[in-house]
Parts: sequence; C-alpha cells; structure tokens
Amino acid sequence: MLELDRDVVVVGAGPSGLTAARELKKAGLSVAVLEARDRVGGRTWTDTIDGAMLEIGGQWVSPDQTALLELLDELGLETYSRYREGESVYIGADGKKTRYSGDSFPVSDTTAAEMDKLIGLLDGLAAEIGPAEPWAHPRARELDTVSFHHWLRANSPDEEACNNIGLFIAGGMLTKPAHAFSALQAVLMAVSAGSFSHLTDEDFILDRRVVGGMQQVSLLQAQQLGGDVILNSPVRSIDWEENADGGTRVRVISDRATVNARYVIMAVPPNLYSRVSFNPPLPRRQHQMHQHQSLGLVIKVHAVYGTPFWRENGLSGTCFGADALVQEVYDNTNHGDSRGTLVGFVSDEKADAVFELSAEDRRSAILESIAGFLGEQALKPEVYYESDWGSEEWTRGAYASSYDLGGLHRYGKDQHRPVGPIYWSSSDLAAEGYQHVDGAVRMGKRTAARVAELARVSAAA
Ligand code: FDA
Repeated sequence: MLELDRDVVVVGAGPSGLTAARELKKAGLSVAVLEARDRVGGRTWTDTIDGAMLEIGGQWVSPDQTALLELLDELGLETYSRYREGESVYIGADGKKTRYSGDSFPVSDTTAAEMDKLIGLLDGLAAEIGPAEPWAHPRARELDTVSFHHWLRANSPDEEACNNIGLFIAGGMLTKPAHAFSALQAVLMAVSAGSFSHLTDEDFILDRRVVGGMQQVSLLQAQQLGGDVILNSPVRSIDWEENADGGTRVRVISDRATVNARYVIMAVPPNLYSRVSFNPPLPRRQHQMHQHQSLGLVIKVHAVYGTPFWRENGLSGTCFGADALVQEVYDNTNHGDSRGTLVGFVSDEKADAVFELSAEDRRSAILESIAGFLGEQALKPEVYYESDWGSEEWTRGAYASSYDLGGLHRYGKDQHRPVGPIYWSSSDLAAEGYQHVDGAVRMGKRTAARVAELARVSAAA
C-alpha cells in the first residue's frame, strides 16, 4: 500500500479529473489521481474489437465545444469531419421510409410547422434561461414540475412532431423516456449546446471526431502526470477534519494508495458519490440531492462492413426514426479506414426491452432495425459490438446524469457547493458542454482554478 502526501487528491481519471490534475500541477500544486479502473478515460474509451477500432464511449466534438477544442490543440490531437455526403433516411410514424436531404425531416406540412413551432419555443426558452443557473429563472419551478413529454403535448397537438422533437433530447441526449425528466432539464440540455436548434442539426452536434480516438484526451494528459495517476485503485473512504489554523486535512483511502492532502476533487458522476464513505458524513442536502441524479441508458451499437455500402447507394448513413428500435444511425467510419462503420443508438425503454432478449436475438433485432433504414446489406457486418455502459460498475449507465422530475430547480443551486475540502467536478455538473467531454474539461478547469485560488490564499495567510 502506497502512502502519499499531496496538496490535492483527484478521485477519477476521466477527462474531468485529469484536466483538473494537470491544471493544478501547472499552478504549482502536487496531486495524486486515484482511478478505480485499469485504464484512464472513464466514459471515453477507444478500443480495438475483432480488428476494428471502436469508440466505445464519447467521441464527437461540435464547434461550440471550445474548451475541448483548445485542449485537443494543446495536446497536438487532430480532428476530422463525420461523413455526411448523400441523402439521409427517415422512417415516419406510419412506418414509411423516405430519403431526404437538408436539415428538416420529410414530414407533412402540418407536422413540419408544428416541429418548427416547438423548436422556436425551445430556442426561446434556452436563450432566456441560459446554461449557468437554470434553477434561478422565475419560471424554473413551473418548467421543472412538468415532464418534457407533457410539455410537448401541451404545446402541440401533433404526435409525430412531439415524438420527433422528443427524440433529440430524450433518446438522443438524456437517454431517459421523455416522461422521466422535466421541461427545464430539456432546456438545460439544449442551451448547454448553445440552442435547441443545435441539437436538431447533426452536422453541428456530431461535427468532428478525434483522429486516433477521444480517449487520447485522457491518455495524453495521464502520460504527462506520470506516476501521479494510480490505476486499479477505487477510493473507498474520505476522512477529513479542520486544522487548528482553519485549513483542512484529508485522508483518502483507496485500494492501492492512501493519500494525505488538503483538498479532494470528486471527478466521478454523481450517481457514484455514495460508493465512497465520507467521514464526517455528507450534509443532509447532499445526501438528498445525490439521490435525485441518475444516469440514463443507451446501447451504442457498432457495425463494421467490408465497405461503406450505403455510400454507393447515395446515402450518408444518417437515419432517424422516433418509433424505430434503433432511433438514430450514423456513418462512423474511422479516419483513413477503407471499411465502413455504422453506429446506432437504442435508448431507455427500448434498451430495457432488448436486454430481455438473448445476445443473439438482440443482435438480430438491432441489425434488422438498421437494415430497415439502409437495406439488407446491413444485416451482415464483419464486426458487431454493443457498448453496454449500464453493466460497468464504475459508470452504471450512459451518457451522463440528469435530475428526476423536479430535481433541477430544487437542488441545482447546491450542486457545485463544496463540502469542507471536497469539491465536485464532472461533465454531469457542467453548464456549457453539459453531458459532454467539453463540459468535463470545463468543470476540470473551473474546479482546479477554485482549489488553486484557495491554496494560494491559505499559503499567503
Ligand atoms: P467519467 O465518467 O468519464 O470519469 C470518471 C472516472 O471516475 C472513471 O474513470 C471512473 O472509473 C472513475 N471512478 C468512479 N468512481 C470511482 C472511485 N470511487 N474511485 C476512483 N475512481 C472512480 N461526450 C461527447 O462529448 N461526445 C460524444 O459523442 C459522447 N458520446 C458518448 C457515448 C457514450 C456511449 C458514453 C458513455 C458517453 C458519451 N459522451 C459523449 C459523454 C462523455 O464521455 C462524458 O461526458 C465524459 O467522459 C465525462 O467525463 P468525466 O471525467 O466527467 O467522467
């Protein structure tokens, strides 16, 4: 067992924790990063499965994600554009398949007008409420106590329009059924990406990928931190007390190292805070708040083919169908790869249903759904893989956490409040870049700056 003395202990070597640790080191503080898994990167994980490089977790970067873009630059990482030539495919409420080009789904004029109206309303709310403190807006309680499902239907009589707009936030982002989170939570999701219109524009939100994979953001940062990153070492307990001089002393116990420090940054998603024993226990407010934050569930499906056959048919590989099992499909071919990769997403209740099936039946159902968009050739991939984050002990879902109905306005204002020397940092708590790697990086920088300032003030005293 290692016994270390450091200024700051970071719990979790995902993009947020590693960014925080690197920033703290730049500020002249000593750090140790304790990571439960045998790898860094958390919800970003680039691996080779049956000879195909796959992004098992987070991968896309959009133009507004400037904190991540700056970090990619700093680390010398390059990006490339998602393939988007050709027509997209839409399967409507009537099950009819239509090829289309441009940004708008090929729906009836009435449904299109209703969709535009809902997009306008959500863009308006996003602009008015902003990403930083949605809970502080005068309409916060009203919007947080109605489910997104019901808010949509209160604003439009068109079921197909409601389902399509719901798809962008429910299946597409929060990966929970639209009845399980509030309209305010939906607005936060939208404004954290700049606007709701950005979420409906796959060429914006899914713009670019990192050459070599998103996990490199963590691998390269960890490389720079060297021996200060300790893997296979889940943190089990955090004991802290105040010093006679008003400062704090912390003792963090993990499987392979015990670290004595002045501050702790918990860089793990909120649903995992309770895996750690805090002594003294966290205050009532935190105990309650953390029970209202939970991860969604989505299966990210990867199918690799000898060639990107859909391109020969004039298709981009982009497909949408709110009622389909696989609600979204994209061309996810790797940079410089002659093979073609599709990625698809099976979200929330649909994921529950296919997890009831045998692995073989699930694979058949998922591939048949993709073939429903792109044709029979989709049925026989060379490599098939399902990212199953719900089974990962140190994550327990995907993509990130959100509050249950009513939780955001009730608890949001306290989600960044430190407890003694304990600070919170993850993409789940971000304003801009919420739920994304960009938000993880922003939170890492912000939390490191707060802790570095405290350390500076206490050193000067
Ligand atoms: P993250 O969860 O990454 O890291 C936390 C770390 O803490 C983990 O390594 C975990 O093992 C560790 N840990 C937990 N408990 C611990 C304990 N007790 N002791 C020690 N260590 C502990 N984003 C994006 O920008 N573009 C995208 O395309 C996608 N797509 C996407 C797909 C899928 C399938 C997933 C799962 C996620 C995405 N995301 C995404 C989201 C993105 O990956 C996510 O927001 C960031 O990885 C979050 O980074 P954090 O560092 O906040 O947490």
